[in-house]
Amino acid sequence: MSDRIVFHAIFATFCVFLGACGQTQKNIDSLDVASPDGSLVVRFLLEDGKPRYAVDYKGRAIIDTSRLGFSLQAARALHSGFVLAAADYSSVDEQWTQPWGEVETIRNHYNELRVSLRELGNDGRLMNIVFRVYDDGLGFRYEWPQQAHLKDFVITDEHTEFALAGDFKAWWVPAYEKSRYEYLYSESPVSNLDVVHTPLTLQADDALYLSIHEAALTDFASMTLLRSGDNVLESDLVPWSDGTRVRAEAPHVSPWRTVQVAETPGDLLTSYLILNLNEPNVLGDVSWLRPSKYVGVWWAMHLRIKTWAAGPNHGATSENVKRYIDFAARHGIDAVLVEGWNTGWEKDREIQGKHFDFTRAYPAFDIDAVTRYASERDVRIIGHHETRAVVANYENQLQQALDFYREHGVDTIKTGYVGARVDDTEWHHGQFMVQHYRKVVEEAAERQMMLVVHEPIKDTGIRRTYPNMMSREGARGQEFNAWSRDGGNPPEHTTILPFTRMLAGPFDFTPGIFDLLFEDARPDNRVNTTLAKQLALYVVLYSPLQMAADLPENYEGHPAFRFIVDVPVDWSDTKVLNAEIGDYISIVRKARNGGDWFLGSITDENERTLDLSLSFLDEGTAYRAEIYADAADADWVSNPLAIDISDQQVTSDSVIQLRLAPGGGQAIRFTPLASPAVQ
Ligand code: NOJ
Repeated sequence: MSDRIVFHAIFATFCVFLGACGQTQKNIDSLDVASPDGSLVVRFLLEDGKPRYAVDYKGRAIIDTSRLGFSLQAARALHSGFVLAAADYSSVDEQWTQPWGEVETIRNHYNELRVSLRELGNDGRLMNIVFRVYDDGLGFRYEWPQQAHLKDFVITDEHTEFALAGDFKAWWVPAYEKSRYEYLYSESPVSNLDVVHTPLTLQADDALYLSIHEAALTDFASMTLLRSGDNVLESDLVPWSDGTRVRAEAPHVSPWRTVQVAETPGDLLTSYLILNLNEPNVLGDVSWLRPSKYVGVWWAMHLRIKTWAAGPNHGATSENVKRYIDFAARHGIDAVLVEGWNTGWEKDREIQGKHFDFTRAYPAFDIDAVTRYASERDVRIIGHHETRAVVANYENQLQQALDFYREHGVDTIKTGYVGARVDDTEWHHGQFMVQHYRKVVEEAAERQMMLVVHEPIKDTGIRRTYPNMMSREGARGQEFNAWSRDGGNPPEHTTILPFTRMLAGPFDFTPGIFDLLFEDARPDNRVNTTLAKQLALYVVLYSPLQMAADLPENYEGHPAFRFIVDVPVDWSDTKVLNAEIGDYISIVRKARNGGDWFLGSITDENERTLDLSLSFLDEGTAYRAEIYADAADADWVSNPLAIDISDQQVTSDSVIQLRLAPGGGQAIRFTPLASPAVQ
């Protein structure tokens, strides 16, 4: 049977199902594809040759009929005049293993509908739209097959719409702003949005949450969302400096446009749809990857105790870095980040980017001696490449710069792109930079090097394909607490991040500040949490590279540092025990190696008491719970350092009560005891 005949058969079925095909004036083709459990249904429609889609969840519309397609430069648009050439259904149900991550195995279970569209008459150009429908959401992407009449093409606009079925509540950061993604999240109805970044998190009602994002952003512009009508969001691709959006050559594919759907906020967080929509690992054996904890010559710079540039308070001197290496070795911390070691920082901020030399160290930093010193102590060095968004200078040196580090045994690099525009012209999130960031990932992978990227392109799950792409920034991190003129991140910031920025992937937030007030260094700023909440963030904000961000002297001798030493950075399982976006969240994660579980629970500015069942623990096993709790009188404003550290024996039958201070949190390590639980 030809594809065409298959389509007619399916079409006939759905005409009966819809019961309306014969009555309408319009010529409408319609095809449904449902998720494996049937709860989510995507309907593809071809209305008078115009492609559309709509989405239902458990019989309720969540996305009304929405447009699909593109405008092209100097060519007819690809959004109308189509006939359906073929429609193919398929299904996949498989499991795959993450080399590192928040869970070890992921089920990839979906039903697919691939519609092949052909233009009527003219050149008969071809475009496919592929829908994959999972129980936890959907993805669809456009494909432009190799063909005679569409070779090189330039996209000037994408018309993909998300016509929401209501004025849902949204958590969002604005797009096209100077500080990239680094803004506090706003909460408002969709009707208040202008143009925002993804992931965009939405709440329809008490039992329906959505997140719109994209997966596998590979050679395209990133999608922002523009409110283009009542409850309608439209893809607004970040343009090149000439105003066009994407330069492509067929065959080409767009990233997946994704909508995750969940009945609780926690289920959004444990959806792995974005990863499932990325291609499997292309690097083969990745046993060289090292999820790690690190300390670094970093916070002292943000507190202005040390400088990046050479001078009397230079941070990256051999002597100071060796002090961090000694500290790391003493406490079993894997690595030390070294910023401000290479020449160029002495120039004015505006022109540094043109002057950075990525293979020339300041005289005070003996890179041979320091890297040797580190390796003798079994500590790794994390290198640093700040570009100040002068990508031309970085790309000119990229290969030598990576080789230089590799020759010194440095296998992890933090990159940075501080600036409002790249090379004074391009946005950080357009196709130019998507290509650049990818180039660096590939060059690093060739040398078996890991990356943590600041001022990055947003995460769209490419860590599945390139598992050396470990972590990134892409939101307001800890550093804002050191210097932000608005007083830093308010207590609710970290109760929003898990449901917004973190839905994209790991975040190098850099938790673990113990000296929360740093009154001597920067009296006008502080960290707006309790100490126990800083510990809880190691579990709440997932990253395979986690920094112990404070100065070594603030950790030395402090009993709470034990938790940072103990907490893993690689997990076999993750569960959200309770959560309200912007209010609180409790997460437990199981260590990838061994049977320990770790809990992180945090609240916003409000005090809370949460009852937690420990039913996630193995039945019949007794566990030692090491509890790091806000003291009874702790409060982020008036008494942030008060912490109670205690021990308790628990089992899977236990229900414990967490008391979180205003702006507080709690962290617990559960270790199985050798002897069976006393019944
Ligand atoms: C901004 C980054 O987020 C920060 O971590 C880094 O220290 C500075 N840029 C300097 O590169």
